Amino acid sequence: MKVAVIGQGYVGLTIAAFAGESFEVIGFDSNQDVVNQLNRGISHIEGVPNSLLTTRIKAESYFATTKGSDIGNCEIIVIAVPTPLSKDRNPDLTFIEAACKTIGENVKNPVLVINESTSFPGTLRNIIKPTIEKYSSGQVEHLYAISPERVDPGRTDFNQKNTPRLFAGLTHEASEKTRGFYSKFCDNLVEVSSPEVAEAAKLFENTFRQVNIALVNEFAQIAHSLGISVYETLDAANTKPYGFMKFTPSAGVGGHCIPVDPTYLAAVAEEHGAPATFIRRANEVNLEMSKYIVNRVAADNGGVLQGKSVLVVGVAYKPDVVDVRETAADLVIKYLRDQGAAVSWHDDIVGKWRGETSASLSGADITVVVTKHSSVGVKEILASAPYVFDATGQVPGAKGL
Ligand SMILES: NC(=O)c1ccc[n+]([C@@H]2O[C@H](COP(=O)([O-])OP(=O)(O)OC[C@H]3O[C@@H](n4cnc5c(N)ncnc54)[C@H](O)[C@@H]3O)[C@@H](O)[C@H]2O)c1
Repeated sequence: MKVAVIGQGYVGLTIAAFAGESFEVIGFDSNQDVVNQLNRGISHIEGVPNSLLTTRIKAESYFATTKGSDIGNCEIIVIAVPTPLSKDRNPDLTFIEAACKTIGENVKNPVLVINESTSFPGTLRNIIKPTIEKYSSGQVEHLYAISPERVDPGRTDFNQKNTPRLFAGLTHEASEKTRGFYSKFCDNLVEVSSPEVAEAAKLFENTFRQVNIALVNEFAQIAHSLGISVYETLDAANTKPYGFMKFTPSAGVGGHCIPVDPTYLAAVAEEHGAPATFIRRANEVNLEMSKYIVNRVAADNGGVLQGKSVLVVGVAYKPDVVDVRETAADLVIKYLRDQGAAVSWHDDIVGKWRGETSASLSGADITVVVTKHSSVGVKEILASAPYVFDATGQVPGAKGL
């Protein structure tokens, strides 16, 4: 059976690599450079090693393409394209619409279309299905299902195989075919009663994290004002064996999911006249953490950052990944520069970012740790400047939240 996966990023390439064990997979991506690299066996995604990609290519169970016609005779098509926010921070479904166009124009036989991209409830039924039908001139009756992706890049204990997977079809037949597809490489499938429940569950999972991270970030500020340690207090609360889940403070949230998905939920809620004030505020609290940290650093340094050399350690949005999307380091650097600091950053995993290159971990007046990769030593961080502020809780001996 031939499967096409539209979008060969974090989600799409991971699915393609796993599905390649049982299916012939075509990885469709609009980025020619990504496609060229993949066809040479070079993966750009942690969790998909080059060796696995090469094995799939040699077994002829995978190739990447930018040609829409290559997906024409597939039986299953998985959509895994970005669902970002627009400039005015509203859901941006232009990538989904473009993927639907590719399917509508190229797939002339009935197939199963599964959406894995995160979006608001109603996307499969009210946007994906009608858009594909529009581009195929209503001539083909496809089956449609949703199975939101839950992959956590960089994580090794939970992966495609052992993370329970939600799914629902628009019809019973779509649900059954979706079950058949994922059961080849996922251990635990959880069918829900409608695509809208699956879509909403995915958004709620990430909203739960956004809100709890905002709560602990606000609490870090309260603890500091009270002169107590936020970490010791959280550890104390965490001795309760039920009804508490520990989250830790940080410079904010990053990546393609936690800062974005709750806004999809808030937008659809408000469209339906339901309040989403709590969700909106959580997002603001997390965005404001970077300013709070820069103000703390300035206060500890005589209130003046003008002319000081400041080294930001870790610009990836979380440890041990190369992903800088929505990273909190972005705002930390902006606010430091707004106050006149000469800012450089150190992150050997990211290497290059926004035309700048990772600086050496030494010789600064001030170091601010935003993300601590496991390859970066505590001793080296502490030796990099006379004053070190740590937003991660991973650098004992530094000032911190
Ligand atoms: N990254 C994660 O950890 C994660 C986890 C769960 C869910 N998701 C969701 O999965 C979806 C994909 O996210 P991602 O992180 O894999 O994105 P990504 O940016 O890593 O990859 C997306 C890929 O899609 C390609 N693309 C864009 N438009 C295209 C089009 N019209 N046709 C073909 N290819 C196209 C891009 O070139 C890119 O290679 C999003 O909805 C995201 O919210 C992501």
